[in-house]
Amino acid sequence: MKPADLLAAAAAACRNAHAPYSKYRVGAALLTDDGSVITGCNVENASYGLTICAERVAIGTAVAAGKTPFKAIAIMADNGPAPFPCGACRQVLAEFCTPELPVYIAGAGCTDAYETTTLGTLLPFAFKL
Ligand code: THU
Repeated sequence: MKPADLLAAAAAACRNAHAPYSKYRVGAALLTDDGSVITGCNVENASYGLTICAERVAIGTAVAAGKTPFKAIAIMADNGPAPFPCGACRQVLAEFCTPELPVYIAGAGCTDAYETTTLGTLLPFAFKL
């Protein structure tokens, strides 16, 4: 699957974001080992600390569907800065992939201009048991 296709799936999920507090809508799309695409969006809450990032929503959905490990992730925001995953999401991702996992990041709904990095670059020395 091309990065632009995975980013398009993230963009579609972004439209479902529940982000009335930050107004920063994020979508994430995981490519799983069997070729499936599993998406998530950020889900905010009036009790701010209960907010869940798009990446962790996608990861939990994939795990619940029995679709691990992951082969790539795309993350998209429809406004504001490029959505590099937070530290918590990096660690949770590391549970289900290798450090070589490609991470595609695009801002402002853009599927043709994106950055490519890897989870190992974003999170060296991930904690593993
Ligand atoms: N957020 C994500 O969903 N993923 C990221 O990679 C960065 C931050 C969300 C959490 C919150 O709803 C909003 O962005 C502002 O922090």
